[in-house]
Amino acid sequence: MSTVVLAYSGGLDTSVAIRWIKEKYNLDVIAVTIDVGNDRDLQSIAERAMKIGAVKALIVDGRSDFVRYFVWPALQANTLYEGQYPLATALARPLIARLLVEVARQEGSVAVAHGCTGKGNDQVRFDVSINTLAPDLKIIAPVREWSMTRDNEIAYAAEHNIPIPVTNASPYSVDQNLWGRSVECGVLEDPWAEPPADVYEWTDDPNSSETLEPEYLEITFQHGVPVALNGEEIDGVTLIELLNKQAGKFGIGRIDHIENRLVGIKSREIYESPAATVLLTAHKALESLTLSREQIRFKELVSSEYARLIYNGQWYSALHQDLATYVQSTQRFASGVVRVKLTRGQCAIVGRKSEHSLYDHALATYDSGDQFDHNAALGFIKLWGLPLTTQAQAQLLPSVGLEGNLLSNGQAKVKLIEK
Ligand code: ARG
Repeated sequence: MSTVVLAYSGGLDTSVAIRWIKEKYNLDVIAVTIDVGNDRDLQSIAERAMKIGAVKALIVDGRSDFVRYFVWPALQANTLYEGQYPLATALARPLIARLLVEVARQEGSVAVAHGCTGKGNDQVRFDVSINTLAPDLKIIAPVREWSMTRDNEIAYAAEHNIPIPVTNASPYSVDQNLWGRSVECGVLEDPWAEPPADVYEWTDDPNSSETLEPEYLEITFQHGVPVALNGEEIDGVTLIELLNKQAGKFGIGRIDHIENRLVGIKSREIYESPAATVLLTAHKALESLTLSREQIRFKELVSSEYARLIYNGQWYSALHQDLATYVQSTQRFASGVVRVKLTRGQCAIVGRKSEHSLYDHALATYDSGDQFDHNAALGFIKLWGLPLTTQAQAQLLPSVGLEGNLLSNGQAKVKLIEK
């Protein structure tokens, strides 16, 4: 019998899918549960898959690959989608797609399957990645294909003796991995409604009045990758887990985002990403010391393109390789230590140092020892302002006068007509 490799989360959708795929496509299901730091009981999830009728249930620990090949490059690039979302869900998709393809090859399967709906970004990320890596594999997306409501699914499960996961029926749709937790649906679909307290699981209320002493952290980066915490070497997975707890306690990393999905919908998502928030803030602080003004400016353009590309499911693209190569080049001197102070709801940078620092005290100081050439500033100002003074004299002052120039554009025009 031919097989299909299903990305199995253990939830209602993918549990029902095991039976549904068998019925609809007559394929045996190999369930693969991929751990990207989702904090679940993987053993019992695999057992459930077998109980439902999977012919095999595999567990893959993808955590260190996730951090090394997906999270760190995104950190080095400072990627935030639309300036807000650290891209946790979006970053894990291309890894999961790759692992599904790998298992499909090992098992000689003819198809892969995932539990995405037909209106989100994740179906695009999975399908585009899978088609790119293995165009011959068929893709089955049961939830996109069947037209069952949640209640229909529960009825289907009862009919087919599918043990459904006994969750406390969360009103939200949640996806989580090491880099963050994404929550949508329920009351969150009203963009005016403040998220209720039960939306948050990783972060404490930043407005809690209980006393909480500030905490200082020293994060050491090597070429833009965090390698030590408070002077002690630490591996990426452990560091991120620790920061999620530590910064989560202070309520750091809550994000309320009305985002533009690739499929054209605006949606409201709440993110919790304590570790990502701390590390992105610290990494940027280090770059402010070690990159030139022009590098920082140009890198911001690259970052936003890079974030879009990740969000839009184009991880396995030549453009990505190009941008990643640029970003790696920017990290040549991004080594040093950043000192971070955690207080409720806030992660403040209070110190930074690097052996490659471009900060020159002799140039910056207002005290004795100042080596900045004050006289050179005069010539600089003259040339820097030259095009402005030229244009003002030729066009602006004669037409609208001093008064008009003080006003904003539209008003200046009115003045011009009056004259
Ligand atoms: N909006 C985010 C993205 O497209 C997260 C999607 C998954 N969210 C969820 N709550 N299941 O990357």
